[in-house]
Amino acid sequence: MRGIVESIGIITLLFLTACKKELTEVPGGNEYSFLVPSHFPEPYYQFENNEVSQEGFILGRKLFYDKRLSLDNTVSCASCHIREYAFSDPGKKVSTGVEGRVGVRNSPALFNLAWNPSFMWDGGINHIEIMPLAPVTDHNEMDMSMQDLMSKLDTLEEYSLLLQSAFGTREMNDQRFFYALTQFLTLLVSSESKYDRFLEGKVQLTDEELEGKHLFEQNCAVCHAGVLFTDYSYRNNGLLLDPEDNGRERISLNPEDRGKFKVPSLRNSVLTYPYMHDGRFETLEEVIDHYRFGINLTATTDPTLVNGIPLSEEEKAKLIIFLSTLTDAEFCYNPVFGNPFGE
Ligand code: HEC
Ligand code: HEC
Repeated sequence: MRGIVESIGIITLLFLTACKKELTEVPGGNEYSFLVPSHFPEPYYQFENNEVSQEGFILGRKLFYDKRLSLDNTVSCASCHIREYAFSDPGKKVSTGVEGRVGVRNSPALFNLAWNPSFMWDGGINHIEIMPLAPVTDHNEMDMSMQDLMSKLDTLEEYSLLLQSAFGTREMNDQRFFYALTQFLTLLVSSESKYDRFLEGKVQLTDEELEGKHLFEQNCAVCHAGVLFTDYSYRNNGLLLDPEDNGRERISLNPEDRGKFKVPSLRNSVLTYPYMHDGRFETLEEVIDHYRFGINLTATTDPTLVNGIPLSEEEKAKLIIFLSTLTDAEFCYNPVFGNPFGE
């Protein structure tokens, strides 16, 4: 990986320059780096063999927004991952794919993915580079075979030009497809919320926000840990189990993993409703009430939650005020992450 620069400010500058160019006229040699915010840990993804370039990012962004990736040209990645909502699918318990088919899980927000050791609510995918294989081939999502998709993309002149500038060849193949999407996905870094500016010493939090922060650290941070607001573990947080979806057990085949799901980041959580792997709760109030009164005890319920989390109504409100400081408008409204098709 090339030059980790301390200041995230630079990324916006590069992005804005990139944005003004015609997509097919990206200048070569304009260096482009993945930047680790100064208050973040080192990322998990190491960019070995897939250094980010401006050209690769632009190719990945186009793929992300291109409905032609789906069987009937109606669904793009962005259909279920909407930028203004931190790339989640607001208001939908489960998302709609080709021909109006519905999936079974709630579409997660997409950001800070370079720090994720694994993907999906059950961690069923362990590498970001192969991540797009799942939505592309899923019957309920895009329903394409990789082979058909590669042939389809190869007939589109606009892609051969982008490929030429990103990878020095006009031909699409699985690897270039995965690399380009990975470049786009890894640059979706959300690190400019009010809370981040507080950590950097640039703004103060209000008394209520600080009290909420304290409550959060006492009650929630054991799982929603650190600056990324997740420890990436799989836990059963006491939801009533759905026999159709055993979570992590589906992958590990270990009954001790029954009902365990990946701890999601709570950055931008004000925007990523509804909540949980199946979108069962519509509001943050409902989520916190679940932790207060709704814990369902089974053999795998997390030990820290067996007695619920006792919080008053006032404390609940303060927690939500704190969670609101994690909303990153700079990220959600960064035009460089926007739709290059201009729809
Ligand atoms: C029809 C809706 C839909 C489409 C289209 C879609 N996704 Fe998703 N995405 C989801 C859902 C639902 C999940 C969670 C699935 C699960 O956990 O089983 C998900 C999970 C993910 C994750 C894992 C995030 C995490 O934190 O674990 C990534 C990354 C992702 N999608 C990227 C993409 C990309 C790239 C595309 C296009 C190639 C795409 N998605 C297309 C709905 C969709
Ligand atoms: C024992 C670990 C643990 C603790 C403690 C915990 N959570 Fe969670 N949290 C989880 C897990 C696991 C999920 C995902 C569960 C699922 O979808 O099945 C989750 C999901 C959530 C979600 C939904 C996010 C989304 O994108 O759908 C919110 C909001 C949330 N927790 C807030 C909190 C708050 C606030 C507290 C403290 C009052 C808290 N959590 C305490 C483990 C925990």
